[in-house]
Amino acid sequence: MKKTTFLTMIGILIVLSGSILAVNLRKSPHVNSQTFYTFGKDGQQNGFAFPALQYGYDALEPYIDKATVEIHYSKHHRAYFDKFLAAVKGTEMETMSLEAIFSAISKYPDAVRNNAGGFYNHTLYWENMAPKAGGLPGGNLAAAIDKSFGSFDKFKEQFGTAGKTKFASGWAWLILDKTGALQVTTTSNQDNPLMDIVDRRGTPLLALDVWEHAYYLKYQNKRADYVDAFWNLINWPEVQKRYDIALLKK
Ligand SMILES: [Fe+2]
Repeated sequence: MKKTTFLTMIGILIVLSGSILAVNLRKSPHVNSQTFYTFGKDGQQNGFAFPALQYGYDALEPYIDKATVEIHYSKHHRAYFDKFLAAVKGTEMETMSLEAIFSAISKYPDAVRNNAGGFYNHTLYWENMAPKAGGLPGGNLAAAIDKSFGSFDKFKEQFGTAGKTKFASGWAWLILDKTGALQVTTTSNQDNPLMDIVDRRGTPLLALDVWEHAYYLKYQNKRADYVDAFWNLINWPEVQKRYDIALLKK
């Protein structure tokens, strides 16, 4: 084969593979907890999207049972999402980021506060769990936990106590605050640490749902057992990713 023919064929292959990639990118609108949006052909945000669960309903067994995951995701989380869309329809919030909405949540109706929170918080919760997960964080996150709490065990105790003792419905969080330190905090109902109405603000890195709907079918009144089981499910690579992004945004 002549060298020029060979180079022409390589060129055609490169052009073809680029076109196929471009078509595939256009065909698959994406959504994750960093964006929460779908994107159109032009790459522009064209609406909020309900994120797919990245594992089966039974994948978190035996720590969280199949029925709880199915109802929690497909009914509770979905309802927050649908009510959020209804609450922002026709308002300036339709094209705002969730972060921007949360940072001014005090000026918006309770329907937005509750349902935007429910939509966002549950997305983080599902993504910061995974089957066959748990263990320990690594790298700079492990070092930051040691620096902020003294040790991983002390962090675990503080976070666990926060989840176990939070009165009524709410969330336990690990956050990165504006000073660069990690903190454990809790919020009530569907509030979260990005909202301008909470005492301790920061970027959420790890979220634990302690509403009864998160555990009651399997654990009934024994919330502490559910909180203890959570450590077997934590998706530390996802938490690490959030930490890295939060550091970049500072
Ligand atoms: Fe929940």
